Amino acid sequence: MCGILGIVGNVDVAPLIVDALKRLEYRGYDSAGVATLSNGTLDRRRAEGKLVNLQRKLQGAPLGGHIGIGHTRWATHGVPSETNAHPHFSAGVAVVHNGIIENFAELREDLKRDGYGFASQTDTEVVAHLVARELGSGKTALEAVQAALKRLQGAFAFAILFKDDPDLIIAARNGPPLAIGHGKGEMYLGSDAIALAPFTDIITYLEDGDSAAVRRAGMQIYDVDGNPVERRCQRSIGTGYLAEKGNHRHFMEKEIHEQPEVISRTLSHYLDFANDALRPLNLPLDFAGIDRIALSACGTAYLAGLVGKYWFERYARLPVDIDVASEFRYREMPLSRNSMALLISQSGETADTLASLRCCRTQGVPIGAIVNVQESTIARESDVTLPTLAGPEIGVASTKAFTCQLAVLASLVLHAAIQRRTLTPDKARDLIRTLSEVPRYASEVLKLDCKIEKLARTLANYKHVLYLGRDTNFPLAMEGALKLKEISYIHAEGYAAGELKHGPIALIDENMPVIVIAPHDRIFEKTVSNMQEVAARGGKIILITDEKGAARTTIPTLETIMLPDVPEFIAPIVYALPIQMLAYFTAVHTGSDIDQPRNLAKSVTVE
Ligand code: G6P
Repeated sequence: MCGILGIVGNVDVAPLIVDALKRLEYRGYDSAGVATLSNGTLDRRRAEGKLVNLQRKLQGAPLGGHIGIGHTRWATHGVPSETNAHPHFSAGVAVVHNGIIENFAELREDLKRDGYGFASQTDTEVVAHLVARELGSGKTALEAVQAALKRLQGAFAFAILFKDDPDLIIAARNGPPLAIGHGKGEMYLGSDAIALAPFTDIITYLEDGDSAAVRRAGMQIYDVDGNPVERRCQRSIGTGYLAEKGNHRHFMEKEIHEQPEVISRTLSHYLDFANDALRPLNLPLDFAGIDRIALSACGTAYLAGLVGKYWFERYARLPVDIDVASEFRYREMPLSRNSMALLISQSGETADTLASLRCCRTQGVPIGAIVNVQESTIARESDVTLPTLAGPEIGVASTKAFTCQLAVLASLVLHAAIQRRTLTPDKARDLIRTLSEVPRYASEVLKLDCKIEKLARTLANYKHVLYLGRDTNFPLAMEGALKLKEISYIHAEGYAAGELKHGPIALIDENMPVIVIAPHDRIFEKTVSNMQEVAARGGKIILITDEKGAARTTIPTLETIMLPDVPEFIAPIVYALPIQMLAYFTAVHTGSDIDQPRNLAKSVTVE
């Protein structure tokens, strides 16, 4: 979390930095700041809240200077305030930081003993002082940073500006990503390549343990031992993209509506539509030789993985152990020689998912990763990358990335089933054809927006909502609840419908709507029984089903959302759309900040 930007340029850089920071706001938006060096003076502007506040400040009091660093923050240590906003200063040093310095308390005491005072509650300020102290002992800027780095524990990415050198930014990375952009007589630094897109698409990514001296004429990278190293310079893909909402009010709405197109694009990477066949995958393994998959991910990506577990086990008869990555990384699960690891991440940078990948690496199993950002750390560190071609997802609440993750999982499951001979060729062809129909069904569902919008007006009046589903609709129930709570701030829980009687039924009354996700499938009748249990206790039911399901239910509902009849295999992808739309429209009515909900960030690079 937190976005970092730096420019060693030839014009006033503060406005350019703030503009580029807008592309990093997905990483955090509780405060922002910029520091420049002009005529031998380091100066900064900082503001609490979104970038627009910093922009206003700069309009009133512009900052000159051809070299500078900027930051957009997601608070870890210290409340979101101007005092805690980056850049942090010490004598002749300005620092912006992404990550957490785990031993900051101990370092702070050490620095205090040496007479350093602290203006903020952040962990970052210790870095500024550590570097300043090393500089004071006669070290060069690079030596000072490298000495300071040796004292730090935790995950971090930095950009550091020095009062005495108008041609130098030092960058360092241990965990969160940092990209260096190459310009003509100018150099740039950013948390991702998209932030640097207005300046350049020639990018070098720092590796863990690297530090870099970035100057107008170029840069030099050093490894963890301080030795000069070469890192690959590449042309970044997709940086030409400009984040625009088009005719939509919010990125989330736009991204919901993009789904037929991006699911189709993703599927066409895996399916040969013309021949109802799968395209070959360059997997360094045969699923026939695999006896278990260890799957981990966070948030919405985890819930996509949970749907994948049902599919792998049902269609490919391949057991899947699934964990949220923050648990997997510490639970010391032994992986058998014949297992494989599968990670799912939109950003490809989520700290816990990356740590899980590295855990699996130490156990020597093959590693696959379903990722949306192709140049991300998780993509680079996995043995095989399975791309979702959703395009950049800006809304903090994941929508199109989720359905594209499901599309990739479904394709992978069919590969596994064919290699393991758990489906006949005819049945496999049938399922491939079914999968290729998803974009068409998704377009149909989007037409329900007026009805769902009307329902959302009612839902927005409640304080608690329960979602129920069985089988693959259970992860969808959790995803529906997650979407609703993160953008509308209405408390919501997703439960397996069969678990209702083991606890949540105690909460049912007329003030708690129950959203039941129940296409007419093998176990539809079981879910109807759970609906009866809700109705018998005065609960209000919102049923999301299909024509057959609606026809078979006699229980009165507050509303029934009727989807087209879809084959069971692809139902989780199609049913994801109404739950996203319901959360979106409800948040429109609760008036929350939909694309940047409070306390959240899109890319979570801290534990
Ligand atoms: C954050 C985002 C979620 C996302 C999760 C995992 O919590 O707000 O939308 O699902 O991180 O992110 P990843 O990039 O790994 O999919």
